[in-house]
Amino acid sequence: MNVAQSFPYAKPAFLDGKPKRLLIDGKWVDSLSGKTFETRDPATGELLATVAEGNAADIDLAVKAARRAFDGPWSKVKPFERQQMLLALADALDRNFEEMALLDALDMGGPISGLLGRRRRNVGMLRYYAGMATNLHGETIENSMQPGEYFSYTLKEPIGVVGAIIPWNGPLTAAIWKIGPAIATGCTIVLKPAEESPLSALRLGELALEVGFPEGVLNIVPGFGETAGAALAAHPDVDKIAFTGSHVTGQKILQASVGNLKRVSLELGGKSPDIVFADADLDLAVPGAGMGVFGNTGQVCSAGTRLFVERKVYDEFVGRVAEYGNSLRVGNGLDPTTQIGPLVSQQQLERVTGYLKIGRDEGARTISGGERLTKGDLAKGYFVPPTVFTDVKDDMRIAKEEIFGPVLSAIPFDDIDEVTRRANATSFGLGSGVWTRDVSKAHRLAKTIRAGSVWVNCYGAMDVAVPFGGYKMSGFGRESGIQHLDEYLNVKSVWIRTA
Ligand code: NAI
Ligand code: MG
Repeated sequence: MNVAQSFPYAKPAFLDGKPKRLLIDGKWVDSLSGKTFETRDPATGELLATVAEGNAADIDLAVKAARRAFDGPWSKVKPFERQQMLLALADALDRNFEEMALLDALDMGGPISGLLGRRRRNVGMLRYYAGMATNLHGETIENSMQPGEYFSYTLKEPIGVVGAIIPWNGPLTAAIWKIGPAIATGCTIVLKPAEESPLSALRLGELALEVGFPEGVLNIVPGFGETAGAALAAHPDVDKIAFTGSHVTGQKILQASVGNLKRVSLELGGKSPDIVFADADLDLAVPGAGMGVFGNTGQVCSAGTRLFVERKVYDEFVGRVAEYGNSLRVGNGLDPTTQIGPLVSQQQLERVTGYLKIGRDEGARTISGGERLTKGDLAKGYFVPPTVFTDVKDDMRIAKEEIFGPVLSAIPFDDIDEVTRRANATSFGLGSGVWTRDVSKAHRLAKTIRAGSVWVNCYGAMDVAVPFGGYKMSGFGRESGIQHLDEYLNVKSVWIRTA
């Protein structure tokens, strides 16, 4: 299927009208709840599929299957074989990538052009983790007090059964980001995709079975957060939860984890600062800062939503970003020329339009966007255009709270110490941006900004070899990079008496 040339696209074969089921212990099964839920295209409201609604009992079956595999046959599978499995899954993903991109475009509304452009990144991610499967090793350690008496080394061992709970804003990427490290380290996994966008994860499950993933190693249980998600987070036989989503749900997950003190990693949201100095290359910064917040319709955890602009260039720069936002094509994600798709759901639409009202009530001014789009076909979907608020004060809710829509709060500043203090005056710390030609300023901010990533003269760049994660209420644990694997591993110290 050549998606790029075949608009309007044929429905992917996966959307065959049959209800989608749960993947438990290597088999597709109905939910014990007997219930299904619908997943719809946020651009048109059209029904895409009904999906079995996993509940606590299904989660329990999936965890048991994952445990049996972990304690049994999976523990004997060699790292080399796990590597081959991940490479085979990467190849299968590569072969089916257009379909996967199309499923995500339909399920969460993302622009197909952008989703297709992620082929290298998504397939490459799986290959990166495949490589890591044969690169896990402990250390030999010289004893510091009694070197003649003892010799020590460490072993790195898979933590066990992993529960992965993922959001809807990048469904395929999020699934790969959990499955890759879990399989590479020799864990087994129960994945709960987001109720808004379960399709690409389920299709990935089919591919995993096709390439020979053994029973119980990868289980996929779609369902709602309050039921399936909560049951997974609280399950006494789950060793680790890897979560990506809102900080509010992250707090619930941490609370649910106390029963068995399972390991938790949380990749949460933010209110990331993006700082533009007057000496920056403004031609680069306008689209960079613009896409840093409008991209994926603002539904990005690290979106640079607090745009601090040096006062000398504030009016000019903010005006140009608004103009840039107006130039972006908003529409159905399936249209290859679309740059900004719909928001994912009615709930998200209400949240974002709610903040547009809050911003105006607080006294901020919209210089572009600001209202839901309802012209023609757009009325069927959840479309909000790129929006720029000016006259924003640091203590306004639109300057403090995650909106998760294409909404930018522009704030002027006068000097570097002041902007550092204001950029850091947030409970979050995920991303941050600095635009300047002055290398000293760039390094100073790279050091003083309290956030997991600092992007200099770019925004939102990602690579599977570079760690990603939060400070403060943006969560803890790192994804990508070598240390990502440590999140899925236990370290065992072995002592040998040599005296
Ligand atoms: P959410 O955090 O509630 O959902 C993410 C995942 O967690 C989904 O799979 C959901 O089913 C699951 N979940 C929900 N409640 C749960 C619970 N009690 N126990 C276990 N799992 C649970 O996010 P939601 O409701 O989709 O969006 C609300 C807001 O959260 C957004 O407007 C946005 O601000 C933020 N968000 C941030 C994301 C990020 O990447 N940082 C991703 C998605 C949402
Ligand atoms: Mg939710």
